[in-house]
Amino acid sequence: MPRDVLSYDVLVIGSGLAGLRAALQAEIASNGKARVAVISKLQVMRSHSVAAEGGTSAVLRPEEGDSIELYMWDTIKGGDFLSDQDAVERYCRLMTSEVLFLDHLGLPWERRPDGRIDQRPFGGQSFPRACYAGDKIGFFEMHTLYDNLLRFDNVDFFEEHFVTSLLIRDKTFYGVTAIDMKTGDLRVFLGKAGIIATGGAGQIYKFTTNARTLTGDGYAIAYRAGIPLEDMEFVQFHPTGLVPSGVLITEAARGEGAILLNNKGERFMARYAPNMMELAPRDIVSRAMMTEILEGRGFKDEESGMEYILEDMRHIGRDRILRKLNNIRELALRYNKIDIIEQPIPVRPAQHFMMGGVRADIDGKVLYADGTWVKGLWGAGEAANVGVHGANRLGSNGTGVCLVWGRLTGEQAAKYALEHQNDSISVPEDQVEKEEKRIYDGLLHGRGGGENHYKIREELRETMDKYVGIFRDEKGLTIALKKIKELKERFKEIYIEDKSLAYNTDLIMAMETQNMLDVAEVIATGALARKESRGAHYRTDYPKRDDQNFLKHTLAVMGPDGSPQLEYVPVKIVYWLPVERKY
Ligand code: FUM
Repeated sequence: MPRDVLSYDVLVIGSGLAGLRAALQAEIASNGKARVAVISKLQVMRSHSVAAEGGTSAVLRPEEGDSIELYMWDTIKGGDFLSDQDAVERYCRLMTSEVLFLDHLGLPWERRPDGRIDQRPFGGQSFPRACYAGDKIGFFEMHTLYDNLLRFDNVDFFEEHFVTSLLIRDKTFYGVTAIDMKTGDLRVFLGKAGIIATGGAGQIYKFTTNARTLTGDGYAIAYRAGIPLEDMEFVQFHPTGLVPSGVLITEAARGEGAILLNNKGERFMARYAPNMMELAPRDIVSRAMMTEILEGRGFKDEESGMEYILEDMRHIGRDRILRKLNNIRELALRYNKIDIIEQPIPVRPAQHFMMGGVRADIDGKVLYADGTWVKGLWGAGEAANVGVHGANRLGSNGTGVCLVWGRLTGEQAAKYALEHQNDSISVPEDQVEKEEKRIYDGLLHGRGGGENHYKIREELRETMDKYVGIFRDEKGLTIALKKIKELKERFKEIYIEDKSLAYNTDLIMAMETQNMLDVAEVIATGALARKESRGAHYRTDYPKRDDQNFLKHTLAVMGPDGSPQLEYVPVKIVYWLPVERKY
């Protein structure tokens, strides 16, 4: 079939914070010479980064006691010593200039009376270093980058384009295939360089802060191309998902003084983290909340049957809430008809973030399991694991990693593309035809066996919530894996009812579910094999951290039978040896 082929220097896959920062830096670094395509299954400003709330950390006040070393220590200890310490150092050093860069672009940071950028406390950070704009930081960061990008005519946006595969030959990236959702046609994007910036996969869980769109597409297309996913068993649960919707109630609320109460009216965090209390790292607060609930000290929402903890902000006061936490006030009013100025709200831990991702080095270069670079391919943001977050990300470091690795990868990709300007790349007919057959003959017009892919998705999400959540054990993980494999088999028999091409969300959702199944299998397999507890991965049957056997990163590579094969690589310990984590 005749097909549309588009050629660019740099292909940015994903239009969230990491993708936009990468596109902007590609433009800056190439002096406008690199032609950049941003390809996204969404409209740009629907990317989930707009939902980031509480802040972005950076060291801005050495004279008041903060330092790069302290920030590095907080991040490494927060990550339960699974972070690559060289990557953490690079991150912490570059964050200061990222905050100032966005300031110069016009981001309306909250200011102190002296005009300097204000900072607020966040979990696990021993200095108030989260820069913020009310409680809508993602919205402002995204708008700032997008507004600036619109000035450049060498950056093109391909919205509502669902990327289905990476084109790689001789270990070199040269493009992607994508369904133009408006027409349903498969388009080929050829690119000298590519950046995977597709965000996370929160939808594989039912109770999540993540948007409906986060289905692990970037992880899955890389994994299917033979690229390892690293440390995927480390899934972050944010302590305060609003019950019953899962909408994010920012950690900044606790930064501003909110407290957590059980059904006895106790501030129970005193038992789990006596020094940092509600501002301990997320893995610790989430486990504490679940322990309270499991031991009968939670509350019950009769309608949904969900149990919860109360978050109380009344003492913060009306003026401060209206100024600094207005977004979550509106959310609680809209979803629960509760005014946080007057009443506590029901919250419980919700899936929020993937610490793992496509394997990438400190520069964001995507690596194979043997450590060689997939030439021309980088990764940034939640989609890539560059080694910063370890086993547990600190709040306010997620947006920062998007910015820093957006910048680093955008710069390198643009330079690489211009250096390879004269390399000829032609359409890889064999790979594209295979992809067309898979999608249109196999999925869309395939006979199918009557399996309903929406049902498969729901069963997957229920399984992940039940068995691959905050507390895990061998029995539950084994049940989960068996179920995921069964769902993968059933997926082969799905039937797509809608046979049309334009905006066929039936087809797109089926493809998302296929991605979710692969990612879930990697998570459960890694979690079953990691017989220890570290950061967000807590095994009730192995409750201690085991540095002797598990101070190492997990790599999951798709095996010939389509299921993950695990390998391990060492953690880069440059400054600090692991110690017991106390807060
Ligand atoms: O709670 C929050 O505002 C989330 C921040 C983060 O995930 O970094």
